[in-house]
Amino acid sequence: MLNSIIEVKNLFHSYMTATPFEKEILHNLSFDIYEGEKLAIIGPTQSGKSTLLQYFNAIFIPKKGRVIVDGRDTRDSKLNLKELRRKVAMLFQHPDSQLFKDIVADDIAFGLKNFNFPEEVINITIKKALATVGLEPDEFFYRYIFSLSGGEKRKVAIAGVLALDPEILILDDPTAGLDPKGRRDLINSIRFLHNKLELTTIFVSSNMDDVLELADRIVVLFDGEIKMIDTPKNIFKQKEKLLNYGLTLPSVVEVVDELIKSKINISEKIIGIDQLEESLIKLFKK
Ligand SMILES: Nc1ncnc2c1ncn2[C@@H]1O[C@H](COP(=O)(O)OP(=O)(O)OP(=O)(O)O)[C@@H](O)[C@H]1O
Ligand SMILES: [Mg+2]
Repeated sequence: MLNSIIEVKNLFHSYMTATPFEKEILHNLSFDIYEGEKLAIIGPTQSGKSTLLQYFNAIFIPKKGRVIVDGRDTRDSKLNLKELRRKVAMLFQHPDSQLFKDIVADDIAFGLKNFNFPEEVINITIKKALATVGLEPDEFFYRYIFSLSGGEKRKVAIAGVLALDPEILILDDPTAGLDPKGRRDLINSIRFLHNKLELTTIFVSSNMDDVLELADRIVVLFDGEIKMIDTPKNIFKQKEKLLNYGLTLPSVVEVVDELIKSKINISEKIIGIDQLEESLIKLFKK
């Protein structure tokens, strides 16, 4: 049985409420996120993805609709927000808005200090968190944030939230702006963390290769409405629809399209790199 860890019920969101600029951004969203899954939220720019994410750790509290996180209604005035935000860790869209200390260790310690852990425990936790994201603890502990590469910054930001031992990890377009190696490296880290820490992982991505590689399920958001919610296999075979929603396709799907256009006899249903490899090998053997 799938256990829902987050339930979104008839959620609406407006910015600048009670002003002449009031604009409804999310319209009547209802869906569940299951414990232990990797859920991707995709949609064109300004479709409301980052807005939606902020309901999951109660940065936004519903004015219309409900969001239940781990059995607790985020509208409940008795909700312990500090505890919820430890459980539901959020990595923001721009790493620079997450890292605001000068030294790596200070940055990772920041969240922990909110919880009054003793100094030794904090230092051990920082080193553990660095190792978990694949950064050599002794090398990175005293590094200046400004001296890190884009990929390393993302990892330090992830280490900062992991130090709080979360159950749900939310990542807002984590690979944006990374080079191919940095991207590959980060995808592997996210997958490793998800499995090792038995997290529920919710991520937004504009890179459909990331989505194909990581997601168990995909939500397609367009203009503040859920248009599709299904497995990657079922979503990525609906090419026309996705293009109409202003989305791109994973590279494998594009390659298959091109091959079919050049009259190569392979199935248009292929969405994975392994499937493509297999089909091409079969074809060459013929
Ligand atoms: N603080 C704000 N005040 C007013 N409008 C806002 C605010 N934040 C976002 N918006 C508007 O809400 C809409 C949805 O924005 P949001 O950032 O959720 O989209 P997104 O899907 O994350 O976009 P992107 O892919 O570019 O990150 C946009 O039209 C945006 O301009
Ligand atoms: Mg966004």
